[in-house]
Order: sequence, then C-alpha cells, then structure tokens
Amino acid sequence: MKILLIFTLCLISDGGDAKKVTGYSGGGVLIKYKYDTKFTQNQKYFCKGSGPYCSDQIKTGAKNEWINSGRFSLFDDTKSAVFSVMIRELTVQDTGMYYCGVYRDSWMDIYTTVDLKVKKGSLVSRKVTAYAGTRSNIKCSYDDEYKKKPKAFCKIKTHQWCFNQISTEPNRLWSHNGRFSIHDNRSAGFFSVFIRELITEDTGTYACAVVVSNETEFYTVLTLNVTQDLSSEKSISKTVHVGGDLTVSCKYPESHRNDNKFLCKRPALAACLYSATVKESRKHVNNGKFSLYDDRETQMLTVSIRSVTEQDSGEYWCGAEAAWKSEHGYKVYFTQIDLTVTGEFV
Ligand SMILES: *[C@@H]1O[C@H](CO)[C@@H](O)[C@H](O)[C@H]1NC(C)=O
Ligand SMILES: *[C@@H]1O[C@H](CO)[C@@H](O)[C@H](O)[C@H]1NC(C)=O
Ligand SMILES: *[C@@H]1O[C@H](CO)[C@@H](O)[C@H](O)[C@H]1NC(C)=O
Repeated sequence: MKILLIFTLCLISDGGDAKKVTGYSGGGVLIKYKYDTKFTQNQKYFCKGSGPYCSDQIKTGAKNEWINSGRFSLFDDTKSAVFSVMIRELTVQDTGMYYCGVYRDSWMDIYTTVDLKVKKGSLVSRKVTAYAGTRSNIKCSYDDEYKKKPKAFCKIKTHQWCFNQISTEPNRLWSHNGRFSIHDNRSAGFFSVFIRELITEDTGTYACAVVVSNETEFYTVLTLNVTQDLSSEKSISKTVHVGGDLTVSCKYPESHRNDNKFLCKRPALAACLYSATVKESRKHVNNGKFSLYDDRETQMLTVSIRSVTEQDSGEYWCGAEAAWKSEHGYKVYFTQIDLTVTGEFV
C-alpha cells in the first residue's frame, strides 16, 4: 500500500488532466508515461485508487526489461525516459483511476493519473483455425472513432507484449513483414491481417492493436490454431492450352462445411482478389468465365475456368469464409492452384 497525498499542494504531477484510456474486456492496454530524465534510476509503479490511498499493482526498480506481476507488466526504458505499463486480460472491474508514478524516497512522488474504462467487447475468446502450408486472412474490427489511428498485429508470448509486430503505414495500402501483411480498410471499419505459408508454430495468442496515441494502445486478442490438415491437397499445378478449360476439385476440412467458399486470384504479395463465391451446397455459381460448385456432403469444392487465355495464368486459391461478414470473421485458404496457360497447338 502506497499513500499518495493527493491533497497536498506540493505534490508534483505532470499538470495535465487524467489520461483517458479505453480497453475491451478480454483484451489489454499499453500505457506510456514520459518522465524527467533525472528520474531514470528511481523505482516506478502503477497503482489503483482514486483517494489518497493507492494500492500498488506493480512496482519495480528494474530497468530496460519487462517485469511482470499478475496481469500487470512494467518496462522502464531509461534511454528515452519512458515507462510503459501493460494490463492484460482486462475485465470490466478494472475500470477506475490509476496512477503511473515515479517513487522518490523523501520527496513527493511524481505521477500522472490514468482514467481507465473497460468496455464489454464482443471479441472475447475469439478463435481462428488455419492449416499449415496454406494462408489465412484475419479480420480485426474496431470502433469508428479509431478509423484514422495506426493499427498493429503481433504475437503475444507469455507475460510479454508484442513479438514481430507489424503495423499499418501511412499512405500505404499494405505493409509487409516476412510472411505477415496488414491492410487497414477504413471505410469498412476493420483491418485485415494476411499470413502466408503458415506453420504449426504460428499457433498462439495474437493481439489486434489500435495505436490511439504515442501514450496509449489497446488490443483485442485472438487465438490462432494452425493444424496439419492431411485430408486435402495443398497445391495443384495445371497446364492448360489457350482456349481450353481448367477444372480442379479442392477437398476441404469438415469444420468449413457450412461456410461460403470462394475462388480467388492472387496478385503479387497482397491478398487474393475474388473471382467467385458460392454460398449453397450443390448449386452451380457462374461468374463470367469462372464457375464454382460446392458439395458439402463430400466436402469438395469444384472450380472451373472456361476458355482460358494467357492472362489467366497465375496463382489461385480455393478457400472458405468463416463468418467473414461478422466482426470476428476470417478466411481460410485450403488449396493453391498454379495455372500455366500455354500457346495453342500448332
Ligand atoms: C507524446 O507526445 C507528447 C506531445 O508531443 C509529449 O508531450 C509526450 O511526452 C509524449 N509521450 C511519450 C510517452 O513519448
Ligand atoms: C473493404 O471492405 C469492403 C467490405 O468488406 C470490401 O467490399 C472492399 O473491397 C474492401 N476494400 C479493400 C481495399 O480491401
Ligand atoms: C487445434 O485444432 C485441432 C483440430 O481441430 C484440435 O485437435 C486441437 O486441440 C486444437 N488445439 C488448440 C491448442 O486449440
């Protein structure tokens, strides 16, 4: 228990109003506090309370490493004189006033107040399944007010914040980092994360984050489960002569039996462009030269491209939309089709 004599006039604060921070239940928040460089060696703490009594959630003298205490973590970056506090697995009960403080033995502490509000989110315990060797496109929704803020995606390892973070960049449609790409669709109110060449080690907990300011970020979490699915062929190569037809059957996992299926063509690096979608079982859907037929009984999606031209050469994917229309949707890609269109017979 730390007593903060907040009614004493000589208490030094950063003078500003309380920082307003919003989070969502099940997710987390990151709060940064810049302090005067002369306090780099002091202990730092984060405590909860709105009166003169404040109970420490975390307090440490450690520097330049994450220190964990339950759902709270603190990182004191002495180079930039900024300390960061992370709160994970938020609940509505975490709503309240907090202090980010610099501890001073025989002086009043220096602190800033944080007004945390935790909203009940609909994205608690969200699960995404995907298959090794294929790709996935995950949707991260956000409220309208965060449209213009940068977005980020990263893997959360035990007790630590963000590994291999990938962020949106201003004036760029897609940003890439290794097998991961991110794209903010502002008009639709979500950002997409696209992961290529999935491996089972990608299984884990991930954060869909919104960078609200240089001082606060919040995130919602999702659990990605990448399994080896042995029932379907992951890659099919076909060579078709100009004017010929391509027909390929894509076997898919049972868990996607009731989802809409699609065929899409992939331009370099970025996500797939839709060629056609089928929403019902045993019904032919035609879209120009593309046609799709989904037999949910046998878990087989049959795709055709009629009278191909050389421009049809390229990489296609058979996939399923898992609740894509909802705010926690994602797309699963299960079979890659490499089409090569060659010249006519002489
Ligand atoms: C964020 O930016 C404001 C205004 O530029 C600055 O006063 C503050 O110290 C910054 N905070 C951090 C944590 O860098
Ligand atoms: C944004 O999302 C909407 C609705 O899902 C979609 O129609 C549109 O193509 C997307 N835009 C981009 C650039 O991906
Ligand atoms: C991942 O999914 C597979 C197949 O659906 C299941 O057997 C496995 O238990 C799941 N693993 C986790 C960590 O959820």
